[in-house]
Amino acid sequence: MNPIAHQPDSLPAPGPSALAQSEALSAQIRSAIAAADGWLPFDRYMEQALYAPGLGYYGGGSIKFGRRPEDGSDFVTAPELSPLFAATLARPVAQALEASGTRHVMEFGAGTGKLAAGLLNALEQLGATFKTYSIVDLSGELRERQRETIEARAPALAARVRWLDALPEQFEGVVIGNEVLDAMPVRLFAHTDGVWHERGVTLRDGEFAFADRPVSARQDLEFLTSLEVDGDYVTETHDAARAFTRTICTMLTRGAALLIDYGFPRHEYYHGQRAQGTLMCHYRHRAHGDPFLYPGLQDITAHVEFTGIAEAGVDTGADLLGYTSQARFLLNTGITEVLGEIDPVDTMRFLPAANAVQKLLSEAEMGELFKVIAFSRGIEETLDAFASGDRTHSL
Ligand SMILES: C[S@@+](CC[C@H](N)C(=O)[O-])C[C@H]1O[C@@H](n2cnc3c(N)ncnc32)[C@H](O)[C@@H]1O
Repeated sequence: MNPIAHQPDSLPAPGPSALAQSEALSAQIRSAIAAADGWLPFDRYMEQALYAPGLGYYGGGSIKFGRRPEDGSDFVTAPELSPLFAATLARPVAQALEASGTRHVMEFGAGTGKLAAGLLNALEQLGATFKTYSIVDLSGELRERQRETIEARAPALAARVRWLDALPEQFEGVVIGNEVLDAMPVRLFAHTDGVWHERGVTLRDGEFAFADRPVSARQDLEFLTSLEVDGDYVTETHDAARAFTRTICTMLTRGAALLIDYGFPRHEYYHGQRAQGTLMCHYRHRAHGDPFLYPGLQDITAHVEFTGIAEAGVDTGADLLGYTSQARFLLNTGITEVLGEIDPVDTMRFLPAANAVQKLLSEAEMGELFKVIAFSRGIEETLDAFASGDRTHSL
């Protein structure tokens, strides 16, 4: 396949070596489609596009995180936007360590390592006693980037950081994951002419294309028909994100897990008006809907269905500690105090920090779309982060 054939005019073209990488990945996916008799469920396509070793978006060498398209990045996340995010998140992490009497932090999907470096410094400043900071990432390529960031920004604490190749059976401490759930493969379903289909990927004239098959598995049909959809409708289900939540909540024998991401509770997610689903791709800070553009060079994500995440955690016997908007979570944990530590007279520092806080909190930006869900074991008190505006009842 020639990826250029998919290139919308407005998107900048990748360089020749990136295109060659994309072509190598496409060849691999084409073989997988052939081996599956011409049709791959979408989650298997997404898994390859994001995580194929050496070639997938997170498995390969693209820049990914950053603030501007000119630096070759595709999207910005809260820890990339401002160090105030990590400085504020450190407060509930410190409180959960203290409340559970645990001494270890584990971060999933650590990106460039900025959140880790910021948390290490802020936890130390808050006087939190923690012994280790473990990082788990499916992307081996990011590990080196994380190590460099942490050594540069938190040199005195870098010795406490370790990278895990496999999860321990049990973990006592605080687990965090920012924008990890949205990066997990989803299955696609389309309701057309009154019938539910699973939307997969096939080859048409050598190009990737969607192909729908009627849903036959009883469990899928039961769930989809419960949605009471009338007209044409496309949506996703999140088996991988739920399995991930079950895994971390089973592993967590004492402490808390805090997961931050964009999404909605089930009744909002599967609302009749969200008829196009939430699958989205990010390339050079442009969001678009074509998952077949430059496989391996662009991010593919879907919003998180938080009711399913809550059920998955609670099913393991973990307590649901809280669920709220990112704005409420950050305000409850004192982001304005953290901002207040910067002298407003120092406009070069204060203005960008205040702008970033505005983005993190604003309803029109990240404040309302992003949510925080937390599970715990062995913590009796609620965290300050959920002291007001907890929306567990909406799940
Ligand atoms: C959108 S990025 C977010 C990175 C970072 N947390 C941030 O906020 O900038 C998603 C990250 O999650 C990682 N990831 C996805 N599934 C994972 C899993 N099951 N275990 C660990 N990391 C995972 C990806 O490799 C990637 O680094």
